[in-house]
Amino acid sequence: MEKKWWHNNVIYQIYPKSFNDTTGNGIGDIQGIIEKLEYLCYLGVDILWLSPVYESPMKDNGYDISNYQKIDPVFGSMADMEQLIKEAKKHDIGIIMDLVINHTSDQHPWFLEAKKAKDNAYRDYYIWKDSPTDMESVFGGSAWTYDEVTDQHYFHLFAEEQPDLNWDNKAMRKDIYDMINWWLDKGIKGFRLDVIELIGKDIDKGVTSNGKRLHPRLQTLAKDTFNKYDAFTVGETWSASIDDARLYTDPKRKELSTIFQFEHITLNWDKTYNKFKTTPLDRKALKDVLYKWQKELPDDAWNSLFFNNHDLGRVTSRWGNDGRYNEKCAKAFATVLHMMKGIPFVYQGEEIAMTNVKYQHIDDYNDIEIHNRHREYVIEQQAMTQHEFLSQVYLNGRDNARTPMQWDKSNNGGFTTGTPWLRPNNNYLFINVDDNLKNKQSVFYHYQKLIKLRHSEDYGDTLVYGAFIPCETTYDNLFLFERHHKEKRLLIAVNLGESSVSFEWERNVDDIIVNTGNIDYFKSITLNAYDALVFSY
Ligand code: GLC
Repeated sequence: MEKKWWHNNVIYQIYPKSFNDTTGNGIGDIQGIIEKLEYLCYLGVDILWLSPVYESPMKDNGYDISNYQKIDPVFGSMADMEQLIKEAKKHDIGIIMDLVINHTSDQHPWFLEAKKAKDNAYRDYYIWKDSPTDMESVFGGSAWTYDEVTDQHYFHLFAEEQPDLNWDNKAMRKDIYDMINWWLDKGIKGFRLDVIELIGKDIDKGVTSNGKRLHPRLQTLAKDTFNKYDAFTVGETWSASIDDARLYTDPKRKELSTIFQFEHITLNWDKTYNKFKTTPLDRKALKDVLYKWQKELPDDAWNSLFFNNHDLGRVTSRWGNDGRYNEKCAKAFATVLHMMKGIPFVYQGEEIAMTNVKYQHIDDYNDIEIHNRHREYVIEQQAMTQHEFLSQVYLNGRDNARTPMQWDKSNNGGFTTGTPWLRPNNNYLFINVDDNLKNKQSVFYHYQKLIKLRHSEDYGDTLVYGAFIPCETTYDNLFLFERHHKEKRLLIAVNLGESSVSFEWERNVDDIIVNTGNIDYFKSITLNAYDALVFSY
């Protein structure tokens, strides 16, 4: 297998708007990231993935880009961005950007031109039809919006302010490739590709994800851009099966480094109402899905490992216990994740076990998805009550991940001296970076340890390249597996539930690497609620 520079890397996702505000305008900025490089370096991460910082009207918090080659003034300037790339490099940290190329903002000059007339040079950069089909937008409502000027409808899989680009158009593709190379020339290490599975869509057939043209298109895209720079790429692919993943990530096909698959994330989602109607997570089902991806992706293809991102509720609130067991629970999920094969992602605040937030009023929420779905499910269709809707938002609403980063006990958790764009979670008084750094048993130090292990001479190769071997157990809560590489053996035992579990261990125990519950490890090993144990033997 050809080794890649990023194989043993750990990636930290920053949602810049909520990370650290240095100007007092209530919105995080690039200087705020620079200010925290020391912290990120201490945590040990290799790459920062920045959610979009490009110029944007912010209808979808930057996932609606109006200029790919400008930094939005709320975040700073291009000079700030260049400074970030340079300063991060001094800390041995690479930067990857979010690449949103399924759609632009409706304020992008291409779209403003395209709207003017049917024969405008940019018209065909987007998708137009005389009469709409019945396709729906991911954020609710029709995927078509009527435009009076030319008496046609344009297509948008997300908000109406996010018109889809027409990937059949060669000039558009060329402009996108040039823009990507322009960024790579600035020294960034790669991209996270937003909803990339959609760029092969075939609207006439009603196909959005995984269209026939998707993979050939990705191959050309990679050849003309990423591959020339040996860049790292991770594609966001909500509907990817293992078979799809093989196509995306087989190194011989030269498409993407890895993908985010969401099978484990959507396990308890409803078929119709998705994240807005869920059942409690079935641990056994979670284990089956995670193990399946570990075992069935070929050795030279790469999984990406994540429980959190800017679109998901926090893991301890969503799947665990963010009250009594918050810290233990965070450590347990982290241990499972970081001991698997693939490239781990840490989402800002995950390393201190930040939790979901419960606003009482729908108006306190900012997220376009929450507002659109509220209108649709509660007001228009009356498919659920306000209470039912909010109780699901408390679990899975996207704003849970977007509350300001909790740095210390000062006002607004030290995120801003101004008025934050989204209300902080009041628990910053006891969940914050400052307290974590002062306590050697904190969640922060647990993450630091897990990241170090992946880089270590002793166990790095075992975690990065070692085989994944599941072990038999009758307990649904018990995640018990081994990693083998050459003569090295690691046993990982994590209780992702609250009732105790035990297993027999007849062999020697060599080096105790993780032991969050002071577990006795002779012969019969018992793990209490959310205990995690890792040792070599
Ligand atoms: C992705 C992003 C999400 C955004 C959507 C549209 O799913 O992660 O935040 O709203 O794409 O760009």
